[in-house]
Amino acid sequence: MEKSSRETFFITTPIYYVNDVPHIGHAYTTIIADALSRFKKLTGKEVFFLTGTDEHGQKIEKSAAEKGLKPLELADRMVGRFKDLWNELNIEYDYFIRTTQPFHEKGVQKIFQTLKDKGDIYKGIYEGYYCVSDENFLAEDVPLEDDGHKVCPDCGKKAGKVSEECYFFKLSAYQEDLLEFYEKNPEFVRPQSRMNEITSFVRQGLRDLSITRTTVQWAIPVADDPEHTIYVWFDALHNYLTGIGYDWNEDLYAKFWPPTVHLIGKDILRFHAVFWPAFLMAAGFPLPKTVFGHGWWLKDKTKMSKSKGNVLDPHIILKTFGTDPLRYFLLREIPIGLDGNFSHEGFVHRVNSDLANDLGNLLQRTLTMISNYFGGTIEHMDEENPQDVALRTDMNSVKEIVFNHYENYAINRALEEVWVYLNSVNKYLAANEPWKLAKNETQTNRLARVLYQAAAAIRAIAYLIYPVLPDSAKKIWEYLGEPNPLTEETYKDLAFNNFKLGRKIQKPEPLFPRIGLKDFLEEKETESKKAVKEEKMDIISFQEFKRMDLRVGEILNAERVEGTDKLLKINVDIGSEQRQMVAGIAETYAPEDLIGKKLIVIVNLQPAVIRGVESQAMLLAAEMDGKAYIPFFVEDLPAGAKVL
Ligand code: ME8
Ligand code: MG
Repeated sequence: MEKSSRETFFITTPIYYVNDVPHIGHAYTTIIADALSRFKKLTGKEVFFLTGTDEHGQKIEKSAAEKGLKPLELADRMVGRFKDLWNELNIEYDYFIRTTQPFHEKGVQKIFQTLKDKGDIYKGIYEGYYCVSDENFLAEDVPLEDDGHKVCPDCGKKAGKVSEECYFFKLSAYQEDLLEFYEKNPEFVRPQSRMNEITSFVRQGLRDLSITRTTVQWAIPVADDPEHTIYVWFDALHNYLTGIGYDWNEDLYAKFWPPTVHLIGKDILRFHAVFWPAFLMAAGFPLPKTVFGHGWWLKDKTKMSKSKGNVLDPHIILKTFGTDPLRYFLLREIPIGLDGNFSHEGFVHRVNSDLANDLGNLLQRTLTMISNYFGGTIEHMDEENPQDVALRTDMNSVKEIVFNHYENYAINRALEEVWVYLNSVNKYLAANEPWKLAKNETQTNRLARVLYQAAAAIRAIAYLIYPVLPDSAKKIWEYLGEPNPLTEETYKDLAFNNFKLGRKIQKPEPLFPRIGLKDFLEEKETESKKAVKEEKMDIISFQEFKRMDLRVGEILNAERVEGTDKLLKINVDIGSEQRQMVAGIAETYAPEDLIGKKLIVIVNLQPAVIRGVESQAMLLAAEMDGKAYIPFFVEDLPAGAKVL
């Protein structure tokens, strides 16, 4: 690879678990990383943006088993969903790493071996509690519950006991080195408040860390002791090395290592700010410059998370508003270090007021006037008056402030400043009343000056919003006939006056639709209904289909489940035996009408207890407006006949 003299910027996101589809929280981190990457490119840096998926471990093993899939099949599907979403969100990543890629697995084994040879890894017995949802060994002082479990302090789920032989990493040996490192590198953990959290955690003393399991199959084996498989966090953290070429692309690695910033959510700060630098110190790698732990998007005051089931699917918003409004809202609404509550009302308000009104109208009005009054091209104009000078020089200082905010991860502040300026342009237009100047022929050159000032300001604004609103910025440049807006030299070219006379300017299409809250919420409703019908289902193989045992069942009797409006308890003959099942069909069928009816039953579904009644099978029914409709056989088929 060609050596370049440009400064490099290597940014990473967490690699996301593939137990489920991505949600707003994952989108948030990835959009921040994209905005920072685009900003760095704008300032002439050479950027590498790494993202990917975390595919091994008990969490994935378990969730694949629940879905009746092999772990790799589940991973393949979810990788598709992540990549599709990144595409829709206009994410310009440089590499997508999957921890199941052979070069990654090999790299992890190699580093494990290095640490073992060095004596930083030793064999012992681990006794303790493990949270599968967070893939985390609980601290010893978490109290034991009456039922013999511990409760994970981070996610609130039950953590089961683990007692097995394993390899330990000598984390305790790195306590002093870590503290010294934090001391010398106060920017290592950001924001600052999180650095304090981490140092006091490390000061309390570190226990050695179990880094292998013997009861997890879906993991990278220890090369010379394959009974043991590598702990998923040891595996996952090393993606940052393997993803930048460690052990397979030495030039790439040499060019970009160490990372400039690991962008993560505060949920996984300890892994990144304590374990990870200790692993790297032990293996002798230069350490990352910064770990930035951002806040959480909450829904109804708790962290949005797949395991809590309170996540928002970005697709409904994307479909109604498009990509840039979602990017803008997530980055404008909260400072990157703090938590924020997601509300649809807040979303609609923010987008309508900042994007449709402030920015959209300014662009629309200015360019339409240039088109109507000057046929799209301004050739001559008056000299600047003091108001014009102020608009120009303000932009130069706003630019400095905005770029500084981006540089400091204060993206919301950067946008805030742009909008203060943007509104001053709106005021400038209101004060100069170009629509009145247009009625007076002696004022043509003054009119030209006013519209030129506004257009030049809009051009500069497009550069300032580009990191967050890349599509909109590109459209604006296109309307303004901006030649080569994105080059390594862009930053230097940004001056207000670089907007030259004589350009052909186009009449724009509205950049942002104005959407009423009511329309949006209705859309959201119908979307989620439609989602039932149109949900992009994964293709399954015939083998997978055949795992379902579908049979003809004959209803022997049915009665209401006490205390419910919807549920019936049904006894059904499936040929070889009778089964009891609970079904939500009481609003559609009276129990006595069902007796003797023949229908399709799935008989090998895991039994469930519904309202205290065991359900040992499930019937097939279609749903419409919340009611269930059963397809019954009209022919007299024997109970137990196979359905294919
Ligand atoms: O932890 N608000 O993966 P994960 C903001 N595989 N950000 C959120 C969020 C929310 N409500 N929910 C998730 C893992 N995120 C590991 C990482 S890295 C070597 C291994 C974002 O799928 C945030 O960045 O649980 C958080 O840290 C990450 O998703 C966790 O994703
Ligand atoms: Mg998580």
